[in-house]
Amino acid sequence: MVPETFGGLSKAIKQVYQDLLKSGTIKPEAEIDEKILPALPPSVQEVMKQGEVIVEPLIRTTISDDRGEEPRYVGYAASELCEKGYGIEDVIALLWNKKLPTREESEIIKRIIMISADHGPAVSGAFGSIIAACAGIDLPQAVSAGMTMIGPRFGGAVTNAGKYFKYGVKEYPNDIPGFLNWMKQNVGPVPGIGHRVKSLRNPDKRVKYLVEYVKTKTTLHTPCLDYALNVEKITTSKKDNLILNVDGTIGCILVDLDFPEYSLNGFFVLARTIGMIGHWIDQNNQNSRLIRLYDYLINYAVKDEREVPDKR
Ligand code: ACO
Ligand code: LMR
Repeated sequence: MVPETFGGLSKAIKQVYQDLLKSGTIKPEAEIDEKILPALPPSVQEVMKQGEVIVEPLIRTTISDDRGEEPRYVGYAASELCEKGYGIEDVIALLWNKKLPTREESEIIKRIIMISADHGPAVSGAFGSIIAACAGIDLPQAVSAGMTMIGPRFGGAVTNAGKYFKYGVKEYPNDIPGFLNWMKQNVGPVPGIGHRVKSLRNPDKRVKYLVEYVKTKTTLHTPCLDYALNVEKITTSKKDNLILNVDGTIGCILVDLDFPEYSLNGFFVLARTIGMIGHWIDQNNQNSRLIRLYDYLINYAVKDEREVPDKR
């Protein structure tokens, strides 16, 4: 028996086997007696069931569980949250702070995300994603190129703004110059203060809106935000772009909402991911070409061309 192709081999083997069975040349093998098989050691699951072994868990989670029919966020089934009218802002609060926010708190969280979602193509994060998109990089990597820019100067000052303004409220409640002095000695530039283009003369509408919303449309108690606004009064009297920026504003509001310190930068990261994905889609829709900086945008502060000396 020679099959026509390699792919026909298994069929041919089966055919030969069945022909041999039919002709009585061979008989089917007897069922294997399981008793003669070497006994395998019991699996961890079996021994655990018998209560004879304790296995040290590798990780511990306190936020979610997927062992049922669907994920549960801090105990609440995802579909039930949807059914009962909760939104993404509630899921954020559950997974980042393990609490279901009140309607008023949800509205604030929603606005924080909406307002930080994008700030045009010129800022460090979007620019990073755009350059990557134009270099033909796929969405996840192009977005992470933009993400890499989120740090102490751009978008990643939310956590430290919340942390240090909270510290100011506690340690220097009525002494903002003392707080600023402490920051200068121990930290450096105050996170959450300062902007490259926004200033007293060119205020940041996002900041104004959030502050106004929280203060006039909600009942949130805002000691951290109030403190930061007082710090801004002093810093802007020194230089008019040392305003309370978006990072500082959302950091303080989130501290006032009782979000944990470690969660704060997550709000900018999450929100700005929306914008970065948008920029990637936009560049791809336009079939944008590779970006290369023009020479006139570079100050070549380099040595004049010169001859390479002979190697000594
Ligand atoms: N606290 C104290 N002084 C400051 C601060 C600050 N937060 N920011 C700037 N300054 C001072 C600088 O020390 C410098 O002083 P000097 O002229 O006496 O040397 C002067 O202001 C100019 O500083 P630059 O760093 O050149 O200012 P620039 O406008 O380029 O910086 C930036 C903008 C990076 C945002 C800066 O203000 C900063 O580092 N702020 C803190 C970090 C922060 O909050 N980043 C988030 C910005 S918002 C966002 O990204 C969404
Ligand atoms: C932003 O939200 O990206 C900005 O505040 C930063 C900038 O440089 O404008």
